[in-house]
Amino acid sequence: MERIHHVIDGRPVTSDATFPTVDPWTREPWAEVDLGGEAEARAALDAARRAFDEGPWPQMGHGERGAILHRLADLVEAHADELAEADLRDMGKPISALLAKDVPRTALNFRFFADHARMSAAETYPMDSGHHAYTRYEPAGVVVAIAPWNFPLMLESWKIAPALAWGNTVVLKPAEQSPASATLLANLALEAGFPPGVLNVVHGFGPDSVGEALTTSPLADRITFTGESNTGRAISAAAARNLTPVSLELGGKGANLVFADADLDEAVAWSIKAIYTNAGQVCLAGSRLYVERPVYDEFVARFVEAADAMVVGDPHDPATQIGPLASEEHFEKVTGYLDDLPRDGGKILTGGRGEGWTVRPTVIVDAPLDARVCREEIFGPVVVVHPFEGEDEGVALANDTRYGLNAMLFTENVRRAHRVAAELRAGTVWVNCFFVRDLRAPFGGVGDSGVGREGGEFSKKFFTEPKAVVMEI
Ligand code: NAI
Ligand code: MG
Repeated sequence: MERIHHVIDGRPVTSDATFPTVDPWTREPWAEVDLGGEAEARAALDAARRAFDEGPWPQMGHGERGAILHRLADLVEAHADELAEADLRDMGKPISALLAKDVPRTALNFRFFADHARMSAAETYPMDSGHHAYTRYEPAGVVVAIAPWNFPLMLESWKIAPALAWGNTVVLKPAEQSPASATLLANLALEAGFPPGVLNVVHGFGPDSVGEALTTSPLADRITFTGESNTGRAISAAAARNLTPVSLELGGKGANLVFADADLDEAVAWSIKAIYTNAGQVCLAGSRLYVERPVYDEFVARFVEAADAMVVGDPHDPATQIGPLASEEHFEKVTGYLDDLPRDGGKILTGGRGEGWTVRPTVIVDAPLDARVCREEIFGPVVVVHPFEGEDEGVALANDTRYGLNAMLFTENVRRAHRVAAELRAGTVWVNCFFVRDLRAPFGGVGDSGVGREGGEFSKKFFTEPKAVVMEI
């Protein structure tokens, strides 16, 4: 069986203990992973600290550092098959999505943040007193990045690319369900010319494990986390004791409003993508679908037809659109919501359990608005659909959640589009589309969906220490 090791200070590092990573399609372990703890966390933080203090990474110009990040992006593209296979075996994502989206986006993340940092300007403040002030954006130091399993490579690179581009050194802990691609990435980084200790990867769990050791350590200068809201609370509390700034991208229960004046073909196609992409294991999923009454019946009929046409199965098959859920634990969680439905209220129009750990695209109607399926993040291919009457009710339904990561709306009325976009309480609003990203735009959520924003200048602000220099002229 393959062995997935830590990468600390530019070298492969093993631990005495290991844990298996399970292929959710075969439901068999496919690799052994070194299980880090306090000692590995400490070693990785020390290596990152040394690489920061002794250089040359933080002192390099943006051009030189950017060239290395671009070389890493080249290597990611050259090793696309291998990286895609790693995420596929770890969490069951279909190969077509990995090759079309996750891997190219990973390369783009490194290219984008390298270029963004190089082209970024800094403020100057001409002062009445005959002084002149200006800002320097200096690297923050050692960045701890804790990632989830749903887009392993893509989200890890989203965090570490800006951290690295701004001259920080990094300790990355991938999710225990999806460790493989992070080790590959760290090896590619060394090949690209990263000095040892600039990008360290340690494997293990969260509580009482390497994740907790990293996030409670005073050696971390920044913590960037993506995962569940409750984990975000734990990490935020741990970071507070050391006054370590945190950026938290957490869960969601995205609302999707389809107005009667929408282009229904497009609205159906995007709404399908919004909930069933990555088997619904997407923080941004449009898992609450609200359809204006006059088109409700027609929309639901067409949506169910499109859901039933999706190809569910073996993630290696290029035709597969929905693979298995990422783990047995997660499969039990998602199907638990379906099992509880008779008690909580609501009716399954289509979907339910599939082969192995797959769940077919599932549509629930008539669920009471306070049912668990309407309130909680299911993180699976399960949508709840409700009708609404008019704009005010639509907006009220959409905003009736403790989350606020994103919302979608479909309308051909340009005034309504702007009006409703302004009223929705969410970090991102997509109008007549879904998941379209400009990496300069802020990304993050309100309420239980997170703290802070990343992307472009927002990542710059988080991963640097801005310094004011005031000169007398
Ligand atoms: P999770 O919170 O269970 O785990 C995420 C990571 O945190 C893992 O690496 C885990 O080992 C680590 N961890 C857990 N407890 C920890 C602790 N006490 N200290 C330090 N590290 C700890 O999340 P999961 O189940 O892996 O991912 C699914 C969740 O992620 C969903 O809720 C989803 O909405 C959210 N997510 C949010 C995104 C966003 O951008 N807002 C994007 C993707 C996922
Ligand atoms: Mg979890």
